[in-house]
Amino acid sequence: MTLQNKVVVITGASKGLGKALAQDFASRKSKLVLAARSKTELEEVCKELGALPVLTDVAQEEDVVNLAAKAVKKFGKIDIWINNAGVRIKRTPIEEVDIKKFHEMVEINLFGTFYGSREALKQMRKQKAGTIVNILSTSASEGKPTASAYGASKMAAIGFTKFLRNEARDAGIKVISIFPGGLKTNFHQGQVPKDYDRFMPAARVAEKIVSNLEVPEPQEELTILKV
Ligand SMILES: NC(=O)c1ccc[n+]([C@@H]2O[C@H](COP(=O)([O-])OP(=O)(O)OC[C@H]3O[C@@H](n4cnc5c(N)ncnc54)[C@H](OP(=O)(O)O)[C@@H]3O)[C@@H](O)[C@H]2O)c1
Repeated sequence: MTLQNKVVVITGASKGLGKALAQDFASRKSKLVLAARSKTELEEVCKELGALPVLTDVAQEEDVVNLAAKAVKKFGKIDIWINNAGVRIKRTPIEEVDIKKFHEMVEINLFGTFYGSREALKQMRKQKAGTIVNILSTSASEGKPTASAYGASKMAAIGFTKFLRNEARDAGIKVISIFPGGLKTNFHQGQVPKDYDRFMPAARVAEKIVSNLEVPEPQEELTILKV
């Protein structure tokens, strides 16, 4: 499909992959509604791209409901919704995982994805069309020691996305799972992995994700390990 004039909502768009996705969609003349918690950063990105900023904490259901409502109020529809907002906690052995931080991460990585998918689904059912894209992770299924909490939060989102796809299919709604490998973003702040040099630039990964949406039959499960 052509992405020109398509209404695209992206969570976690103040930096990293979300910002790169927004820049890529903007270059294809999509209409953008961008969400994140950091007001200044979000407003800067939106100013640069002519997008609508909606301050949103995806862990708060009412914020996500408001995000969808603002998008529909401004543009009358939602063609593509990307659940990209995500966090990780410091890698530690299981015995040392900070349970409070683990809960907070699950609220964002799983519940944020759930709330976003649900609001998109409600609107797209009315439209009888739309695409939901969930940004997951390859590392979730690798079972790497010391990454159990992040991996579990993403595995839960991976599982949810499969159910979502099967529930949405008959309504003409596509659900796409993206499994990126390591990205050169601030995600790893304070704990940069040893092989960071081999990580992928966010802009190139964004290009692959967006290009997949332009083809007549997008891949439902897209793994990106090399760009
Ligand atoms: N980096 C990697 O190596 C890698 C690999 C595989 C998958 N991923 C996934 O890719 C996605 C993007 O990661 P990234 O590398 O771009 O990370 P990043 O540079 O840290 O950006 C994360 C984005 O999510 C937003 N965010 C975090 N918590 C939020 C919340 N509660 N509500 C709304 N927005 C929130 C942040 O904005 P605010 O702080 O302003 O809210 C920011 O815009 C994540 O889902 C991550 O799990 C990353």
